Amino acid sequence: MLILETPRLTLRPYTSEDADFVLDLYSRMEVQRFLGANPKTMQDRAEALTLIEAWARRDDGTCGIWAVQEKTVQEKTVQDQDAGNLTGTLLLKPIPASGPERKPSGDIEIGWHFHPDSWGKGYASEAGAAVLQHGFKHGLPRVVAVTNPANTASMRVCGKIGLQHQSSTDRYYNTVCELFTAENPN
Ligand SMILES: CC(C)(COP(=O)(O)OP(=O)(O)OC[C@H]1O[C@@H](n2cnc3c(N)ncnc32)[C@H](O)[C@@H]1OP(=O)(O)O)[C@@H](O)C(=O)NCCC(=O)NCCS
Repeated sequence: MLILETPRLTLRPYTSEDADFVLDLYSRMEVQRFLGANPKTMQDRAEALTLIEAWARRDDGTCGIWAVQEKTVQEKTVQDQDAGNLTGTLLLKPIPASGPERKPSGDIEIGWHFHPDSWGKGYASEAGAAVLQHGFKHGLPRVVAVTNPANTASMRVCGKIGLQHQSSTDRYYNTVCELFTAENPN
């Protein structure tokens, strides 16, 4: 998987060593409450490990699921392997269509799940912009994002990275979402 760098963040694959963070992140209802039609929290570390394995299988060179890590002070100046804090997840993946079988819709969605300790620092926007650019560089014609109509923070992130609001839609995930899209400018 391609490692992406922004001024403050490194986006890299999740590994099994990140299971405690993944559990901490997804066991919180404040993180889950706007995700999907029936939000539920993660219960244990085994679930986190299963998710990390499933995420690894989503890497196709363009799409993937990234762990977003803060750069250490050192990393900001020189390349260094010291691990900074994990802050959240960035996703670029096929989005399922509504319907009983949740078949692929043909669209690719971008998404962001951050730990509340890291909210409000612009990290979701910084990481989201890097992944959107990566997707376009790899030839995606269009990227969509869908948010719960009450998820103001996520809609704001969409706007900040250049996704345009289209409409409400029930086309995806068997629920009503706000749809945002961006076309490949290249
Ligand atoms: C959505 C989420 C990723 C945003 O993370 P973040 O780190 O706060 O994002 P950023 O700091 O990059 O930007 C958030 C923007 O929303 C604004 N914002 C945050 N909460 C807000 C609220 N309740 N009302 C209005 N604006 C809000 C912030 O002020 C900021 O805009 P600004 O830079 O113009 O001031 C984070 O809230 C999250 O992980 N939520 C849980 C998972 C989730 O819902 N993901 C989205 C699924 S569609």
